Parts: sequence; C-alpha cells; structure tokens
Amino acid sequence: MGKGKVGLVMALVLVSFVISTSSSDEEQMSSSSSSSSSSSLFNHVGSSLLFQVHGNVYPTGYYNVTMYIGQPARPYFLDLDTGSDLTWLQCDAPCVRCVEAPHPLYRPSNDLVPCEDPICASLHAPGHHNCEDPAQCDYELEYADGGSSLGVLVKDAFAFNYTNGQRLNPRLALGCGYNQVPGASYHPLDGILGLGKGKSSIVSQLHSQKLIRNVVGHCLSGGGGGFLFFGDDLYDSSRVVWTSMSSDYTKYYSPGVAELFFGGETTGLKNLPVVFDSGSSYTYLNRVTYQTLTSIMKKELSAKSLKEAPEDETLPLCWKGRRPFKNVHDVKKCFKTLALSFTDGKTRTLFELNPEAYLIISNKGNVCLGILNGAEVGLQDLNVIGAISMQDRLVIFDNEKQMIGWMPTNCDQIPKSKAMNT
Ligand SMILES: *[C@@H]1O[C@H](CO)[C@@H](O)[C@H](O)[C@H]1NC(C)=O
Ligand SMILES: *[C@@H]1O[C@H](CO)[C@@H](O)[C@H](O)[C@H]1NC(C)=O
Repeated sequence: MGKGKVGLVMALVLVSFVISTSSSDEEQMSSSSSSSSSSSLFNHVGSSLLFQVHGNVYPTGYYNVTMYIGQPARPYFLDLDTGSDLTWLQCDAPCVRCVEAPHPLYRPSNDLVPCEDPICASLHAPGHHNCEDPAQCDYELEYADGGSSLGVLVKDAFAFNYTNGQRLNPRLALGCGYNQVPGASYHPLDGILGLGKGKSSIVSQLHSQKLIRNVVGHCLSGGGGGFLFFGDDLYDSSRVVWTSMSSDYTKYYSPGVAELFFGGETTGLKNLPVVFDSGSSYTYLNRVTYQTLTSIMKKELSAKSLKEAPEDETLPLCWKGRRPFKNVHDVKKCFKTLALSFTDGKTRTLFELNPEAYLIISNKGNVCLGILNGAEVGLQDLNVIGAISMQDRLVIFDNEKQMIGWMPTNCDQIPKSKAMNT
C-alpha cells in the first residue's frame, strides 16, 4: 500500500521511549545572531553547510542531496531523511544484493568502526548490541515501507564547503550497505542521508567534532527542489515560530502531541503524537484521526462539484472535477486549511496545512489527498508530517536548544553564500 516512502526506521520504535541523554551541552554559544535586527531574511556568518536539494513529492516521490565521500571524493545522490539517523551507501563490500543506483557502488575504506563505539551502540536497541566481532559494527535498518539495509559501519572522508567558502574534510561514520531489500517505494538513489537526532547522524557527528552547531533545517519547494543546511546562521531566529522538541523520542524530531483543527475548528482529536519526517513523501495520521478527517472532508465535498474518483489509483482518495486540474491552485477553494496545534507550556503554536500542504494533482488531472492512513503502513499511533506538508517553509530542528521551528519561505530562493554543496 504505502506509496511514497516512509523514512522512519521501524526497528527504532522499540527504543523510542528511552530517555534521551541530553545533548544540549557544554557549549554555551549564545544565539547572538538572532539579536541583530537584520532586515534581510538570512545572515551570512559563514559557518553553516548549505546543500542544494533536488526532487519533489509527486511524481518523483523523494528529495535528493549530493554528498562527496571517499578519497578521492566521489558524488553520491542520497535520499534526504530526517526520519532516520544513519547515512549509508550501497556498497561494494562486495554487494550481496544491491539495487540499481545512479553511481558505481561505494568502495568502502578499510577504517572499520569498532563494535563498542557509541555510534554503533546507538544503532542497536538496548540489550541487542552484541559484539560477536569486536572489530566491526554490523547494523540492520528496516524502513516503514518494508525496505531494509544490512551493512557494516566504516569511517571515511566527506568533502564539504562552509558557506564562507572554507573547505572541510571530516572523517565520519557511514554505513556500507551490502544487502538491500527495496521497499514498496523504491527510489533509484545511491543511499540515504540520515538526519535524525541520534548519535550516528551526520549532523550529530559534525557537532561532536565541533565543526557545526547541532541544527538541521530544510526548505522544500512546492515546485520541486530547495535547500538543506546544517548550522544556525542562515535564518533569522526571531522570525521563526518555535516550539520545544519532545524528549519522548530518542531518534525522531517531535514537537510532542497535537490537536487537529479543520477550517479553524477543532475536530476533537487531541493528544496525537507527531513526528517530522522528510523521508516520507506524504503525511500519515493514525487510523481514527484519518477516518474522522476523511469523513469530514467527504461530507464537505459532497456539496461541491467534486466527485470521488476510485478509478484513479495514484493515492487512496482522489476526486475528479468537471475538467482536469493542472495544479492545486485550481481546486484549493474547495478545501479548508488544517492545523496541528502544539502546546508548549502556556504558548500554543500552530502548524498550518493549507491545501497545497496536503493535496497533489495526479497525472490524470484529479486532486488526491496526500494524507494517508498510517495504520496501513504499520505506524500504529504515530502521526507523521511528511515532505508534502513541509513544503514552501523553512523547517528547523535545533538540537542545541531542543526546539523545532518553521516559517513560510520561498524555497526557490537559495540563501546567499560564498560556497555551497551542489
Ligand atoms: C539528484 O540530484 C542531482 C543534482 O544534485 C541531479 O543531477 C540528479 O538527477 C538527481 N538524481 C535523481 C535520481 O533524482
Ligand atoms: C567546494 O568548492 C570548490 C570550489 O568552489 C568546488 O570545486 C567543490 O566542488 C565544492 N565542493 C562541494 C562538496 O560542493
């Protein structure tokens, strides 16, 4: 069923309630950049990493970032995934089972990450970290779309440019995946760029080497493409809507529990645990919430000129108009704005989903609901905000301050910098 990849690593659900050891740590660099009353959206301090993003929600179904890895550095196209931690490449270890990829398989360095390394431990559920061979770290990842990757952790050089033009070549742990089973939404890429908050993520590693502030952000354009960054000097913090990051999940970026609003009115659905996941093209709600929302929508639409189009199998729920639609703009007046409301102490923050944030136009010209039933992909109670609902805004995961923020942004306009990673 699950069309559109769900990037969440299911194995991690088992460990998701372990209290996270706080990483908001020693470094007390104040966020002085936000106090400069800059009128421009972006500052140019220069210690961030900025990447160009390619792809779209539909029809491509993923966003891809190029990383240069190895010595000499070679390019790899990776699936941008804030719903999992480990970055891995299809790898010639030799490869037992690899799927077709845009580049030749990665040849691993012989710098193996030992089993007792904390990064290795972080990839295993507590009590399941057995070191049969202490010299190496074996891992297995399972994704919610049924796909999986089996491999071994190695360290290798990554080539990056800071936004001030300076180069850096840190050695970082990555997965050499030599046995992959493609999931329901197989993507023809070289691997996955894991940007979750776990220890193995690239950003956590760059942070522990004191090369970057532990902040990840992305801006995915509704028209396709966009940008990704690590660090905190490419946005004006005072313009961002912030809410605190829940510590209930050790891996996922979660703003906690939400109440769902439809057209400005509550649906009565509350206490919905929510996580952000750029590796999931679509948004998923738990069974009850999905059913309630779709029945409200169907009732609303029955009075409009839209008819259900079960013959369109692009997504589970599509509607046909009098004539085919070209883009969501043609039909948005028939749909209301949804909102997830998060309570942070006494403050309430809203994550609004206008029709563009939950609808797509299929190749048959019908409008389809980009919100799916998570029960059908095994997500149980978890509600996942996928890429579709994060488009055309900056979404920032600040692991230093333990905050998640968002603001409407034109993602086609890449922040000015001396250098970026394209
Ligand atoms: C990934 O992005 C690169 C540019 O960085 C682009 O040339 C390439 O076509 C994209 N690959 C896929 C498979 O989408
Ligand atoms: C970094 O910048 C240099 C010089 O502009 C360029 O040749 C190189 O490809 C860039 N590296 C990356 C990873 O984009």
